[in-house]
Amino acid sequence: MKKILVIHGPNLNLLGQREPKVYGKVTLEAINKELKKIAKKNKVSLMIKQSNHEGEIVDLIGQARLKFNAILINPAAYTHTSVAIRDALAASGVLTIEVHISNIYSREEFRHKSLISPVVQGTIMGFGYKSYTLGLEALLDLLNA
Ligand code: DQA
Repeated sequence: MKKILVIHGPNLNLLGQREPKVYGKVTLEAINKELKKIAKKNKVSLMIKQSNHEGEIVDLIGQARLKFNAILINPAAYTHTSVAIRDALAASGVLTIEVHISNIYSREEFRHKSLISPVVQGTIMGFGYKSYTLGLEALLDLLNA
């Protein structure tokens, strides 16, 4: 069975309450439930982690190299700042898709740069919580190709 690691970055534990005009009203728990449904249907296993800590995310990615076939990640604010997470992804060599709930290019200028995008297979953004489900479907497609 193929194994996928899902990483939710900082403050995504607050989805549903956090800036609902930007991020919608769907909670992280509900998103994870949707992802698990898709995984079950496609007979893949998911490990889902949320962390507010850059180093913890780096550790998770570091361990993924030997344990997972693919990574689905929303690096949240670290998208725009973390050379460490970018380097961890580049070093892991694991197939990765980056997702964002909002369209980062239609927001403040400091969000317009993703340090992560150049080292992942693809990025899906701007579809609300569906960015996650679309991202997982895209990963499954790539894994089956
Ligand atoms: C986000 C976009 C980031 O700019 C922001 O810091 C987040 C969430 C998104 O999913 O739209 O925390 O990654």
